[in-house]
Parts: sequence; structure tokens; C-alpha cells
Amino acid sequence: MSGEIIETTGASNGIREMLSNAGYSDKAIQYYIEKPYMGVLPDADQVSEMTGTCGDTMAVYLKVTHGKVADVMYQVMGCAGAVSAAMAAVDLVKGKKIEDARDLEDGDIFRVLQDIPVQKHHCIQLAVKALHKTIDAYQQSQNPISKTQSSNDATK
Ligand code: FES
Repeated sequence: MSGEIIETTGASNGIREMLSNAGYSDKAIQYYIEKPYMGVLPDADQVSEMTGTCGDTMAVYLKVTHGKVADVMYQVMGCAGAVSAAMAAVDLVKGKKIEDARDLEDGDIFRVLQDIPVQKHHCIQLAVKALHKTIDAYQQSQNPISKTQSSNDATK
């Protein structure tokens, strides 16, 4: 795992300063410190994992109700950029139709986070690809005929 920051009690101001100096926006830092969607969903309809080129891994827990994203949680074994990107992704897709959630792109997360270090942009891609993989797997489980098409899309 690369670059993970271990937070200790009372140290959040120091972490804020470190991340700010490294080029993270206040919004990205807030997501990293609060981690509002970090954890597991015991009643998830789909769970998928993805490992990035950096070796870090994300698991995505997806709950779908009436064709909409009812809930999403991420488990992130990765850096501050990965955590903030994953948390932003959840805010962007929660409540959306599953097809619309699948349209999430890296640029959508960039716009929410406003600024993260340029060398962390691949962490955003990992958060998006992990979500796409989870949605594809969910859709395949609902409609096995589209399996080949969706698998191809997931590798893009
Ligand atoms: Fe691996 Fe950020 S460095 S996800």
C-alpha cells in the first residue's frame, strides 16, 4: 500500500495541513478525514474488488432498490487520494438510476474534489473503475445474456 496516512487522535489539524501542503483541496481533505462511506454493507446486492496499478485495492459494496443506487460503501486499502475519490463517488451516484451511476466519469470526481495532487489522479480512476466493475457485475447477475458485452466494457 502506498502513501497511506495514519491518523491519530487529535492529529487531524496536522493531517489537514500536510494534505493541504501536498495539494489537496479542503473538500478532498474533508472526505479523507470524515470517511462518510467507508465500510461494508452487510446486505449488499453486489460486492466487487479492484486493484490498481499502484497495488492498492478497493472493494465496493452496492445496494440497489427499484433500479436505483440505494447505498454504496467502499473499503479502501490505499492513499488519501483514493479515499477522497471513493467518498466523492458515492455522493455522486447515491439515489441515481443504476444506468446513470454507470456513466460516472473521472472528470465528475475531479469537479467535486476540485484539487488533488496530479500524481494522485490514477486514484480517482481506480475509484471509478471499481464502481463500474461492481455495477457491471450487478447488471450481469440481473441479466446474464449481456455478460460478454459488459465484461468488455469493464476493461476499458
Ligand atoms: Fe494507490 Fe492512490 S496511490 S490508490
